[in-house]
Amino acid sequence: MNPNKALWEKGDFTRIAATMRESGEALVNRIGVTRGLKVLDLGCGDGTTAVPAAKLGADVLGVDIARNLVEAGNKRAKEMGLMNLRFQEGDATNLSELANHSFDLVVSIFGAMFAPKPFDVAREMVRVTRPRGQIVMGNWIPGDPTLVAQILKISSAYTPPPPEGFISPMTWGIESNVIERFVAAGVPKEKISFVRDTFTFNSSSAPAGLVAEFRNYYGPTMNAFEAAEKNGRAADLQKELEELFNSQNKSPSKDATSIPATFLRVTVAV
Ligand SMILES: C[S@@+](CC[C@H](N)C(=O)[O-])C[C@H]1O[C@@H](n2cnc3c(N)ncnc32)[C@H](O)[C@@H]1O
Repeated sequence: MNPNKALWEKGDFTRIAATMRESGEALVNRIGVTRGLKVLDLGCGDGTTAVPAAKLGADVLGVDIARNLVEAGNKRAKEMGLMNLRFQEGDATNLSELANHSFDLVVSIFGAMFAPKPFDVAREMVRVTRPRGQIVMGNWIPGDPTLVAQILKISSAYTPPPPEGFISPMTWGIESNVIERFVAAGVPKEKISFVRDTFTFNSSSAPAGLVAEFRNYYGPTMNAFEAAEKNGRAADLQKELEELFNSQNKSPSKDATSIPATFLRVTVAV
């Protein structure tokens, strides 16, 4: 089994994505998705950005490595009557089922960053984008003090070191790495731009409840707890995460959670 696929099929990312719906919708409005635009959402999950893009009238294909999330996305599209949206399984490192230059816009929000072989990922994203089309990536930033970078940092202290040669997904949050990867895919450096942007995680549970959702349903956190349990350190990990979520919570109610997280928004003009 491909470990990348196994990681994301292990949990149920829908439980986390449920807290990201407002930000997904706001983002597709900000990046200029319009009626009739051919959009590929890569690493789409169950459609945090694919669904609102389709609601704006774009013709959207969501591609994700996790079978359960593709099923969840197709179910959402059907329930919402979105005939211009479909989801299929695929791997960002090799999109051989997709033709060259077939999309106006390729979006990947916290998606393709989690695939291995980042140079292959950049090359594939460029290949399927039409000339004068656009790629927009959302990538978490290593060392950033906000939520997701900190969850991944805390979790990594409880998990065994990655195998030799492993390239951290967080390197997609470093501008020089992003430039190197797209330049290698044939894009001139001047066509790659960056802004800091924000996604907010909103939940009607208190912060501890949201930590529980990550512990039970978010593959990377599930793995961290499994490793911590083996070393008798699960309570420490739980405590660290609860402190993090509580300290970042901006909700006026203690019984709800609203946590903004900073990410690097990359725009590539192909
Ligand atoms: C953090 S989730 C984000 C999902 C979605 N973009 C969202 O914002 O809700 C990461 C997603 O990337 C997908 N993914 C990871 N590696 C992938 C790969 N190699 N190819 C395609 N999708 C991948 C996972 O299955 C998961 O759905």
